[in-house]
Amino acid sequence: MARRPLIAGNWKMNTTYAEAVSLAQKIVNEETRAWDPVDVVLIPPFVSLRGVSNVIAFDDSRLLVGAQDVSPFDDGAVTGEISVRMITDLDCKYGLVGHSERRGIIGETDTLVNQKLHALLAGGLTPILCVGEPADVHEAGETIPYVTAQVRTGLEGVPAGRMDEVVIAYEPIWAIGTGAVATPDHAAEVARAIRGTVAELSNEVVTEELRILYGGSVKPGNATLFVEAEGIDGMLIGGASLDANAFVAIIDSVLEAQ
Ligand code: PGA
Repeated sequence: MARRPLIAGNWKMNTTYAEAVSLAQKIVNEETRAWDPVDVVLIPPFVSLRGVSNVIAFDDSRLLVGAQDVSPFDDGAVTGEISVRMITDLDCKYGLVGHSERRGIIGETDTLVNQKLHALLAGGLTPILCVGEPADVHEAGETIPYVTAQVRTGLEGVPAGRMDEVVIAYEPIWAIGTGAVATPDHAAEVARAIRGTVAELSNEVVTEELRILYGGSVKPGNATLFVEAEGIDGMLIGGASLDANAFVAIIDSVLEAQ
């Protein structure tokens, strides 16, 4: 990995406030200076962001905090939404956009995903743009055109020179929470296609700097495979990030592979 690795734990709609604080504390307790070469991002539910960022601040930890979603709108009369300004105030440095669960279960469109990405960039946060194909697309051998189209629409309107401020997470939907994982070769092939698409839209420096993550049933037992996959710069972890020991073991395997 030439680029700075990023390991993000997406807790999804799990953990109460107390559970989130306790999980964050367990992870922070395991942190050592050996973690300095990687960015570790905790992505709890909105309501626990303050608790998790407090744990990080009190312990002088270098861990970072991210939000699972964000409103495309600025503060105002938009009931139920959470703005970039609000998550920035809770120390968020990252924000997920376009997670397949939000696209699929909530019905988010490419346009909305793109608007959210712009809102994060405008606020100085790093968007993690999630892309990935469903099983039928995978089986039909159509993964590359599907994923690269998601990358194009997700990045629409982003100035060429700023595209490396976005992190792209490749998460095949058939591998999320299922125990099925993509092969490292498949992940590397898709990462190559994503980088190729960004190369067409930007320039060589930006393409070289762009971080691409793999996500989908990453566990301590298989993380090393993805660390070593060409063009993969880290991981977006769901289920295994809810277990402090498993999450720490994944971070350690990334460090060992450095
Ligand atoms: P998983 O989820 O690790 O539980 O498969 C990954 C994700 O959805 O980000």
